[in-house]
Amino acid sequence: MKREIHITPSILNADFDNLEREIAKISSVSDLIHLDVMDNIFVPNFTFDFQSASTIIKGCPIGVDAHLMVADVDEIAPFYAQVGCASVTIHAEAAKNIGQTLRAIRSEGARSGLALKPNTSIADYEEFTDLVDMFLIMTVEPGFGGQKFMRDMMDKVRATRKVIGDRPIWLQVDGGISLETIEIAVEAGADTFVAGSAVFKSDDPAAMVLALRDLAQGAS
Ligand code: DX5
Ligand code: ZN
Repeated sequence: MKREIHITPSILNADFDNLEREIAKISSVSDLIHLDVMDNIFVPNFTFDFQSASTIIKGCPIGVDAHLMVADVDEIAPFYAQVGCASVTIHAEAAKNIGQTLRAIRSEGARSGLALKPNTSIADYEEFTDLVDMFLIMTVEPGFGGQKFMRDMMDKVRATRKVIGDRPIWLQVDGGISLETIEIAVEAGADTFVAGSAVFKSDDPAAMVLALRDLAQGAS
């Protein structure tokens, strides 16, 4: 069965001083831009506060897929939807009221996403399936780009694909996705791919996005 593939490059490893130019390199070949928001509390790294993230979101020529790695996610997530993100993903481990926050994201007009860190099991969060438009299975510990793809997460990707069943929910993987690993993730059932260093450390980011898409489509 051919699944629709979405490539959502992460700008975490792009040149933050020239973000507009970096995004312009890939916007015509990408489905969404993946924006990693880190607060140095939920993860040991900091990227943007809401103010600077909003500037990026408003100026982005294509939709933004915000990946919120922040402790106060229940409070802040609806604002990311309100400011115009196409998709807002919260971490199951950070949210205190997952159902309410997912509903709030949707009611502000964005797609809702639920992310799971490597040690978090999908079985514990199946009950939220009808409130999500995307599950995100982390294939590294969140916090940094350039880490090694955790192949042992593929059982969780398979389990999540089963939970999704016939629903039109996207299944995203994030961490260590490259030309070497993307097909493994497709075969396990993923259809949406974050790639940070693979794209922005390549000489031709747009060509890399296209190459990743080709491989994923071929394996789907
Ligand atoms: C890690 C972030 C990822 C990161 C991926 O916490 O969520 O989106 O940018 O970077 P690569 O593709 O280099 O693993
Ligand atoms: Zn991410």
